[in-house]
Amino acid sequence: MPRPPRGALASDFLLDPEVIFLNHGSFGACPRPIWEVYQAWQLETERQPVDFFATRSESLLAEARSELGEFLGCQGEQLAFVTCATVACNMLAHGWPFQPGDEILGNDHEYGACERAWEYHVARRGLTYRRATLRPGPDCAEHLLSQASPRTRAIYLSHLTSPTALVLPVPEIARLARAREILTLVDGAHAPGQLDLNLDELGVDAYFGNLHKWLNTPKGSAFLWVAPEHSPGLLPLVAGWGFEPEASFASWHERWGTRDLAAFLSVSAALAYHRERLPPPVRQSCQARVTRFLEAVGSQLYPSAEWYRQMGAARLADGTDVDHLKVQLYQRYRIEIPVYRFGDKPWIRLSSQAYNTDEEADYLVEALRSLKALP
Ligand SMILES: Cc1ncc(COP(=O)(O)O)c(C=O)c1O
Repeated sequence: MPRPPRGALASDFLLDPEVIFLNHGSFGACPRPIWEVYQAWQLETERQPVDFFATRSESLLAEARSELGEFLGCQGEQLAFVTCATVACNMLAHGWPFQPGDEILGNDHEYGACERAWEYHVARRGLTYRRATLRPGPDCAEHLLSQASPRTRAIYLSHLTSPTALVLPVPEIARLARAREILTLVDGAHAPGQLDLNLDELGVDAYFGNLHKWLNTPKGSAFLWVAPEHSPGLLPLVAGWGFEPEASFASWHERWGTRDLAAFLSVSAALAYHRERLPPPVRQSCQARVTRFLEAVGSQLYPSAEWYRQMGAARLADGTDVDHLKVQLYQRYRIEIPVYRFGDKPWIRLSSQAYNTDEEADYLVEALRSLKALP
């Protein structure tokens, strides 16, 4: 098979041109203009570290939070920068003022590392974490809520799920949960950059998201948002100089001692890149590529195109050895893509970013066909 061409924006990205990179979802990828700003902040830090940390960092971070808040539809003061979604999940599981006996209701499409965070903290705190069954479709929200128990204090769910790339109906779930006095805590690891967000209007109680996935910042940039009525009650995971009475949300939750702030300070460049290079028509064409892939492999997962964006997951042929297939795809075809077991079945998840092409997605389908991995 002839190698497929790369996408229009491929030369912006630092990705190895030899690799057909269909896995933006796992760790994101950073375009050069953002990377250069990131490195400039690292140099700036090292030029005069005392001045940078002691004098300048607070206002620089406040500016970055404020700009990010505009993008996310919330006040910058309600945000704290964190290194990644896993850390943010630990912050909620550790610090949310649950009472012993409270139950957190997750579901069977949640990301493993975050489930581990819940399991670790709930065991220490005398709480429970239980998995509900998720059913994509018009009654998804009702079906999820019908599995709550009198002890359920919070629903925890992804806005965009990892193994199945489903966009879950978060506003509806939050509305039904609120009517039952149940909190909604959202893992939005894949959301910023793929979904238009307005956190103030979403109706949820807490939300965290990665910026290093679909907003293309360098690794180690994410945020935690908590609705204003809850922020005084959230205890910090790490207490340091910022842990003072009456201090801001960011002071409590962001000041983790000396660390590299450059990825947080690259947010402004990432937002500019997103605005200028990834406007809605570009992202829609990425979604159309996912549709093309899902149709080619006959995925039955999504009730409609509203249920996915720039990632699409599909079942592979029963009996597929996922580890072997992954190696074959990489060694024979130079395709980087996640192949995994979910619900005891073999699955694959395509990511589509503006550096990809339809020909790359077709090349993947051909490779899967030759390797007899399609159902
Ligand atoms: C839904 C979801 N939540 C959380 C994470 C964890 O992200 P990180 O490794 O940046 O903490 C991921 C990573 O892929 C994810 O897909």
